[in-house]
Amino acid sequence: MIQARMKFDRDFRIGDIDNRIYGSFVEHLGRQIYEGVYEPGHPSADDMGFRTDVMDLTRELGATIIRYPGGNFVSAYNWEDGVGPVKDRPRRLDAVWGVVETNEFGTNEFCEWTRRIGAEPMMAVNMGTRGLDAARNIVEYCNHPSGSYWSDLRIAHGYKDPHKIKVWCLGNEMDGHHQMGYKPADQFGGVARESAKLMKLIDPTIELTVSGSSYGGMPTFPDWDATVLDYTYDHVDMLSIHTYLQKPGSASEDFLARSITMDNFINSVVSTCEFVRARKRSPKPMYLAFDEWNVWWREQEPEQKVRTYPTAPQACLEEVYSVEDAVVVGLMIITLLKHADRVKIACFSELVNTIACITTRTGGPAWRQATYWPFMLASKYGRGTALNTLIDSPTYESSELGPTPFLEGIAILDDENDALTILAVNRSLEDDLTLECDLRGVGEYQVDEQWVLAHDDFAASNTEANPDNVRPRKASTASVIDGKLTATLPKLSWNVLRMKRADGR
Ligand code: AHR
Repeated sequence: MIQARMKFDRDFRIGDIDNRIYGSFVEHLGRQIYEGVYEPGHPSADDMGFRTDVMDLTRELGATIIRYPGGNFVSAYNWEDGVGPVKDRPRRLDAVWGVVETNEFGTNEFCEWTRRIGAEPMMAVNMGTRGLDAARNIVEYCNHPSGSYWSDLRIAHGYKDPHKIKVWCLGNEMDGHHQMGYKPADQFGGVARESAKLMKLIDPTIELTVSGSSYGGMPTFPDWDATVLDYTYDHVDMLSIHTYLQKPGSASEDFLARSITMDNFINSVVSTCEFVRARKRSPKPMYLAFDEWNVWWREQEPEQKVRTYPTAPQACLEEVYSVEDAVVVGLMIITLLKHADRVKIACFSELVNTIACITTRTGGPAWRQATYWPFMLASKYGRGTALNTLIDSPTYESSELGPTPFLEGIAILDDENDALTILAVNRSLEDDLTLECDLRGVGEYQVDEQWVLAHDDFAASNTEANPDNVRPRKASTASVIDGKLTATLPKLSWNVLRMKRADGR
């Protein structure tokens, strides 16, 4: 048995957690939109063709904000193709993902879908094949009340009330040559700044994210981010960054340690933002939108050499996630929360069917992947104020990252509900771990609920035939005696300890 401790105090706070840290993402890619979000004719479809089984799961997941329409897809997308009478919408070659896009689902359907599930829409604009003109027009179409060409067109399309989309993304992964319309940082920075100016003149209430590095290993990181921010610092609110943790070719111990690379990446991005801030003598901090993050490793699709352009949807990147992947997802959530002072938005990428936490069968059921659970539990219990949490744990040697603590975790104070939550992972593949925490620095608490996600078979996953193979179980190993919490965290597990105030404060 490993012995480890967490230390925290109610006065040592990282920051209030922005609820948008529990966001997700849907893209016109694979079977996400068609057959995931939207499937007219499905037994559960509502009056707009939205799958209500997927809507129910998304609500239960607790996704607060949903990014759309891409991803890479947005960089060659004409948003005008996806509005107006469906019969008049053009079928276009989607050269990004190699399909014919029917445009049956577009901006209005997306906004209506987010409204029905109670989430906030987050809209990306095309900075690849297009630029500021298309960007300003879509803001006018979506957000201007009436009395102008684009706003009146929205009304004519059946949406009298503006969608009031608050968060807009300037481009996607513009630092990579995989992106349609890639631009060097100087060029992109200029276009992004001018677009930001125009978009905010049309609706000054919006928040803007600007495309930063697509991952920390990009050769242009962090110069790309510094240059883009040099242009846009005064006009945008957040820098967008992405990370997918991959396993192929490495041992589980190394895979589990890789949340540390994500942590290092965030630290470097924050330093880069601070460097630009210092150069600009700006009082304004730059926040982060970690608007794509996940584990992505099993099914890398071979590139289509000769494109045949079948009609969308075409299944692709339909990963089946294991309990080990779910624990890594849990580690990534803890990492994001440790930066709650900077990370204001994060999108678990993606929501349904493609590298997703929800899977559907066309015409059939929808089920939760193993990775669904850590996100769902964190979104449900992990609201409030992130506390600076010191981890005192034995370590193991990861071949890439050196000494890696078996214990990882964070404490979250939720005074609004008189609660305290600990999210914790035991990285050990061999041993259970006894967690000890002195709670006296936060108040008197008693254990209210304890959830554990673990499985004897680390490769266990959920399938249509066995959708509940991996699911969290209630546990009862946690107790508080004389202000000291102890709990057993099983080997390779994600844990939630929810405590309620016991001193009638
Ligand atoms: O999520 C799939 C793709 O991964 C997105 O389209 C892109 O932004 C990222 O590279």
